[in-house]
Amino acid sequence: MIKGKHIVLGICGGIAAYKTASLVRLFVKAGAEVQVIMTPAAKEFITPVTMSALTGKPVVSEFFTANTGEWHSHVDLGLWADVMVIAPATASSIAKMANGVADNMLITSYLSSKAPVFIAPAMDLDMMAHPSTTRNIEMLRSYGNRIIDPAVGELASHLVGKGRMAEPDEIFNTINDYFSRREDLAGKKMLITAGPTYEKIDPVRFIGNYSTGKMGYAIADEAATRGADVTIVSGQVNIKPTSDNVKVIKVESAREMLAECQKLFPKSDIGIMCAAVADYTPTEYVNHKIKREKEEIPVIKLTKNPDIAASLGAQKKPGQLLMGFALETDNEDFNAIDKLKRKNLDYIVLNSLRDSGAGFGTDTNKISIFDVNGNKRCFPLKSKREVATDIIDTIISR
Ligand code: CTP
Repeated sequence: MIKGKHIVLGICGGIAAYKTASLVRLFVKAGAEVQVIMTPAAKEFITPVTMSALTGKPVVSEFFTANTGEWHSHVDLGLWADVMVIAPATASSIAKMANGVADNMLITSYLSSKAPVFIAPAMDLDMMAHPSTTRNIEMLRSYGNRIIDPAVGELASHLVGKGRMAEPDEIFNTINDYFSRREDLAGKKMLITAGPTYEKIDPVRFIGNYSTGKMGYAIADEAATRGADVTIVSGQVNIKPTSDNVKVIKVESAREMLAECQKLFPKSDIGIMCAAVADYTPTEYVNHKIKREKEEIPVIKLTKNPDIAASLGAQKKPGQLLMGFALETDNEDFNAIDKLKRKNLDYIVLNSLRDSGAGFGTDTNKISIFDVNGNKRCFPLKSKREVATDIIDTIISR
């Protein structure tokens, strides 16, 4: 529910700024507290007096009030916010947010905010289509910010194209949905595996893979913001969850991952197997560095690793839900459904390496989700955080 929530509304200098008066009315009518921050340019399009009258709070725009020296703390504002909405977000503010150019109160507050950020771009169609804007928006998405896409329509230039800020009621509904969904996993315990496993050969070498853990961590963050109690059993990755209430247990090998999952799964309501688990591990670990000169060319014998998803699937109890992933290069649907059945999963998320932007290391993903009855839902290419939302929505829908 939006009632009682703290919304920081950042307004940038674009013609769509005039629409934010209606947006504030919608928020206030629904019982939210709104604090407006305006960039200097925004004040050319709508007056601070209008916004402070509608919100009942003085608008913040400068770092301090010139005549009294009163300091406006961007850190406090960032912490006060339950959500930050930046509408309209102009090309230059988007570029500043993407690159951390903290030269006004709005950008410093954005950089300090721990709250989820929703960004509603608005600009002329050619600015919107420019590669720099596209890249900056993608960077913002990769930081976990959510973009409220602009619409196609007549623009201030009288040209027609993509760039019109989403209408106030659409922005309001997005924020309202976010708050209504927030608690839909409250009380649920979730176990997520993520990242690669490392299978040791000797003290300096291992067998690994290119997984970065981004997808699993994005799911963990999404689930945690929706109230779940989340633990990630993670291979070696260079990322951290953005959400404070995600617990991470770091492991190296598939066997270590299995041991942690065996402990956690019986107490979990939901298991999501995102890790890229090595299928094989060296049969023996050489406890000294294998030397190049003195030794014969080594032959590394491999043995099968345990299948973590299948072993959890075998012990799954009624009421528990288990989801797996399948990264395929060919016969995608057949292989995914086969894995779902073999591992006793409830859902399987398929990524095809044939889709550009999907798979390891990217900030985006393109998925299809199969259920036990073979029903398939396809999703377009999205940021991994948006994909995480689709995955959690699918689980909730059951
Ligand atoms: N998985 C697992 N333990 C393994 C192998 C895979 O838990 N030892 C999980 C993955 O996390 C994923 C699903 O099983 O959720 C499918 O993984 P994938 O590597 O695509 O399938 P495999 O079973 O390894 O089959 P193949 O390598 O033949 O594609």
